[in-house]
Amino acid sequence: MKKKPILRAMQVNKNFGPTRALVDVDFLLYRGEVHGLIGENGSGKSTFSSIIAGVQSADSGSFELNGEPYLPRNMVDAQNRGVGMIVQEQGTIGSIDVASNIFTGRLEEFSKFGFVNMKQITARAQQILNDIGAGDIDASAPTMSLNFEDRKIVEMARVMVADPDILIVDETTTALAMKGRKILFDLIKRFRASDKAVIFISHDLGELMNVCDRVTVLRDGRVIDTLSGSDITEDSMRRLMVGREFEDHYFRSDFVCSYDEEVVLDAQHITYGSFTNLSLQLHKGEILGICGLSDCGMHELGKVLFGIEKSLTGRVVLPQDGTQVKNPHIAVKKGMGYLSKDRDRESIILNASILDNVELPSMRLLSNAVGYISAKSERRLAQEQIDVLKIKCRGPKQRLTELSGGNKQKVVFSKWLGCDSDILILDCATRGIDVGVKAAIYRLLEQIKKKGKSVILISEELPEMIGMSDRMLVMKDGKITAEFRRSEDLSEEDIIRYMI
Ligand SMILES: Nc1ncnc2c1ncn2[C@@H]1O[C@H](COP(=O)(O)OP(=O)(O)OP(=O)(O)O)[C@@H](O)[C@H]1O
Ligand SMILES: [Mg+2]
Repeated sequence: MKKKPILRAMQVNKNFGPTRALVDVDFLLYRGEVHGLIGENGSGKSTFSSIIAGVQSADSGSFELNGEPYLPRNMVDAQNRGVGMIVQEQGTIGSIDVASNIFTGRLEEFSKFGFVNMKQITARAQQILNDIGAGDIDASAPTMSLNFEDRKIVEMARVMVADPDILIVDETTTALAMKGRKILFDLIKRFRASDKAVIFISHDLGELMNVCDRVTVLRDGRVIDTLSGSDITEDSMRRLMVGREFEDHYFRSDFVCSYDEEVVLDAQHITYGSFTNLSLQLHKGEILGICGLSDCGMHELGKVLFGIEKSLTGRVVLPQDGTQVKNPHIAVKKGMGYLSKDRDRESIILNASILDNVELPSMRLLSNAVGYISAKSERRLAQEQIDVLKIKCRGPKQRLTELSGGNKQKVVFSKWLGCDSDILILDCATRGIDVGVKAAIYRLLEQIKKKGKSVILISEELPEMIGMSDRMLVMKDGKITAEFRRSEDLSEEDIIRYMI
């Protein structure tokens, strides 16, 4: 059977000031295919896909949709022509209800003589949620009350409103746990089976291999190659993305569980949200993994340990001097750092520069005896972080709103690296970060451990957990159901049994 093109991009260019985000990009999408789009952080994936989805426009070049010229005026126009996109960054509005989010930009379709029929909208929204397998989300609920994952699922429902022929999924899976992933992959399967098409952006090479028929690689805004079928291997993707061979050693290379007996953080009988009477200890020089499904309570646990949320019982103590971590202010003062899963809402100030964000928690270190921070030490610190994590930017003064998703995540990470924390709590730290930089972060974590500092890794990514932790606590429904020590024989199956 001859494959039918559905979308064609020809010589597309896009610049942001001096940044060449896309250079002469040619791209062909066939009906019935799932087409992966990969590349390092800042290589142009989101820029390209958001042009297709009508979010922004190209500087030059052209598109054809089903053989016709295609130049969407905005996102709703693109939707009406059959192109829908789930964006990388949080794309729902918290202050309105779920149904209004699902019908953003389309409310007038339900209005008569100026009155919007909310009942009808809510019913339609619920239908769509049910249809994609998310019936447990209430269309009339305030969006603010939903957790991160469910908000992402609301975005999937929104895309389905216009029944698109092309679905674009930009780096969504890292925001999703098992429930959301199943919904997403079922949708993708549906698109392929009904001769529609999917553009799938991800940094998870295993996942790409599983779902994609073809994979196009971008590097610095240029198309490097398109792989298909059995040529799509982790090795070939890595090589084309980075432009060189990759060394093997990705996670920790040792398999010994090694840390000092000294306890540096002691959580005693704490209770919050879904967990009750939970106790755990973190040791000096330990990387402690906490894993489970996203609703098991582990994300809340991280917040309680850092003092953002208050435990109803018990306490979190730093045994060294008996300090009780009652709020984040005390935590930071005592050398703790915390990276939230919900980056854009909790971890960074999007409107500020890289410099401002990196230095926030580092004030302690940068200020001299009289509390004065020199502009020079400030700049040096920011530049150091930019170099270590290869943050793609024009300089320390660039604002975060202008960085690609993965590069924002690097800024969050460097924020805490910069202040040399003794205890780091990392909730989904490597979300959206490309393989090369992930490897660099794993090396950094090893160094932090070697210096006798301690890390708590909260994540659903089992390979990362197994690969990096000395000890691993598995959570289910607010309880710790198993504890594993670092070992070569530990498999994902061993752990999953205690998660679900
Ligand atoms: N609004 C903007 N202003 C200035 N520069 C921008 C803007 N949007 C994107 N860029 C730049 O364009 C380049 C490509 O960014 P893009 O977001 O497309 O990367 P990406 O491949 O999606 O990366 P990631 O994997 O991190 O999501 C980056 O250098 C980025 O900093
Ligand atoms: Mg992106």
